[in-house]
Amino acid sequence: MGTDLRSLRHEYADRGLAEADLADDPVTMFGRWFEDAVDAGIGEPNAMVVSTVSAEGRPSSRMVLLKGYDEGGFVFFTNYASQKAADLEANPACSLLLPWHDLQRQVRIDGTARQVDRSVSEEYFATRPRESRLGAWASVAPVAQSGVVRTPTRSRRRTTPRSSGSPGETCPCPPTWGGYVVRPETVEFWQGRRGRMHDRLRYRRDGEGWVVERLAP
Ligand SMILES: Cc1cc2nc3c(=O)[nH]c(=O)nc-3n(C[C@H](O)[C@H](O)[C@H](O)COP(=O)(O)O)c2cc1C
Repeated sequence: MGTDLRSLRHEYADRGLAEADLADDPVTMFGRWFEDAVDAGIGEPNAMVVSTVSAEGRPSSRMVLLKGYDEGGFVFFTNYASQKAADLEANPACSLLLPWHDLQRQVRIDGTARQVDRSVSEEYFATRPRESRLGAWASVAPVAQSGVVRTPTRSRRRTTPRSSGSPGETCPCPPTWGGYVVRPETVEFWQGRRGRMHDRLRYRRDGEGWVVERLAP
């Protein structure tokens, strides 16, 4: 009856990841692997799972799109009235996961999130296609993102600002929409290997620098 999940098993190639392959810092290393993911044609290579923990200690996960990274951290944009935002308000510790199955790789980032400066959100918002900008307004009212919708979906766009009604007109960044930057404490690079002898190399913040540790597979 259906697929036997116990028999689903993938044999990994023996690409390997050695300490000598690593960059001095995890952001540079992330950039190398991200470009590999792009070059490999992975669908939505910047899609990542964000896991948060609520004030009551309940974990939850969802996908968002990574929209930037540098030594300051990893940036995504969302609704500040959403469930994930409420969790981050109560507990800024969070975890990011980029699953690049086709390369038999994952990157796992644990750190602390904070809202980006308003100017950063406004600047990025202005670069989004008009449909996405309108969509952001649709997700702020009358039911904010993550709220239970009791009215027909069609009525949600009534709150879209009038100025966005015709093509070419501006559509400002909603006040409750913006970015988070996750400052990493650890960044782990996982490379699948034959016989489940996977390589796991983790950067851990240590003062101004990073130490690299090999983790058991
Ligand atoms: C591939 C993919 C990309 C997504 N990107 C975003 C994003 O960048 N920002 C966002 O707020 N939600 C994004 N979502 C929707 C979220 O997964 C989620 O449904 C929404 O943010 C509400 O989450 P919450 O209720 O836990 O706050 C994306 C979903 C998918 C499947």
